[in-house]
Amino acid sequence: MAGWNNNQLRKYNIKFEKIPVLQHDDPKVNSLLCNNKPVLIKGSKLVSSVLNWDLDYLQKHMSSVCCNVMVSTNHKFKYYDQKKITPSITFKPQSRPSSMTFSEFAERMKTWKKGAPRLYLQQTLNNSIGHHVVRDFVMFNWDWVMSKQKICKWGALTSNLLLISQEGNITPCHYDEQQNMFAVVKGYKRFILFPPSQFECLYPHPVHHPYDRQSQVDFDNPNYTMFPKFKDACGYEAVVGPEDVLYIPIYWFHHVESLMSGGYTVSINFWFKAGPIEKIEYPLQDYQKMAIMRNVEKMLGEALHDPNDVGSMLRTIVVGRYTSEEL
Ligand code: OGA
Ligand code: ZN
Repeated sequence: MAGWNNNQLRKYNIKFEKIPVLQHDDPKVNSLLCNNKPVLIKGSKLVSSVLNWDLDYLQKHMSSVCCNVMVSTNHKFKYYDQKKITPSITFKPQSRPSSMTFSEFAERMKTWKKGAPRLYLQQTLNNSIGHHVVRDFVMFNWDWVMSKQKICKWGALTSNLLLISQEGNITPCHYDEQQNMFAVVKGYKRFILFPPSQFECLYPHPVHHPYDRQSQVDFDNPNYTMFPKFKDACGYEAVVGPEDVLYIPIYWFHHVESLMSGGYTVSINFWFKAGPIEKIEYPLQDYQKMAIMRNVEKMLGEALHDPNDVGSMLRTIVVGRYTSEEL
C-alpha cells in the first residue's frame, strides 16, 4: 500500500504522465537507462544499508560534523551559483546556504514552528561525515549502481549528496549536467520531470545568471504573459518512496517536492559524469543541442567580455533574419 495520498501533493496547472515503474531485474530497466529515459526502479537495495538514517541516528553519529543547510523564507529552495553574482545585477535570493553542525540542524528541525525560516540540509557525503556513517555508506549496493554505470557507459561517479528536507519543501524546476540515480531513504518525494525537448516551454535563466540551469517559471504562479509556452509543458511524474531509485537523465528538467506529510524526508543522490563521446551520430539528441546552446552563450560572454551584451547580440543575429514567416 502506498504510504502517501493525493492530498499531500501540491497542486499545479500542468499536465503530466506517469514515469514507468519497474523491478530492478526487468530487462527494460537497462534499455531505459541507456536511452536517457526516466524510470522508477524497485527492489535494487541501493540504500538498504541506511534505512535507519533518521535525525536521531545521524545526530548521534554526525553531531559535530559541519553541514551545508539551505535556509529559505518560503517553501522554495532555488539553487544559485555564488560565483555568478556580479555587481551589475540585483540578485536577492530567498534561500541561502548556511553552515551549522548536524546537531544544530537536528535541533532546529525538531523545534521548528510554522512561520520560522525553512531548512533543507544538502551535504556532500565525504570523509568529514565521521567513520560510523562512512561505514554505512560503504555498505550501499555499489555493485548494482556501478554495473548500471558500466552498462550505460556513464563517466565517473562525482558525488553523493545527502538531502534532509522538511515536509513541503520544494526544489524548483532545473536541470543538471550529470546523470542522477536518486534514492529515497525516508518519506516520499514527488518528482515532475520534463525532457530536454521542452526547453522552450521552461525558459531557463541565461547561462551567466546565478540561476543558470533553473527555470524562470514559478510553478505556483506561472506568468503566462512572459512565459506563454509554459502552457504546452507536459511533465512525467513519480512519487518516490523508501528504497525506490529514480533515474533522472542528464539535462532533464526536474521539480522536486517533499510531500506534505507531517514528517521529513531523507534521500541520497548518485551523480555520474556523462560518458565519453565515442562517435557523434546525427541527428543530434535534444540534450546534445542544449549543451551546444550553453557553449554558444558561454563563448559570446567571453568574446564580448560582458555577459550583459550576450542577449542583444543573439537578438541581432536572430530577429528578422531567422524569425521570418517562411522559416
Ligand atoms: C538532484 C536534485 C533536489 C531535491 O538530485 O539533482 O535536484 O530536492 N535534488 O531532492
Ligand atoms: Zn537536480
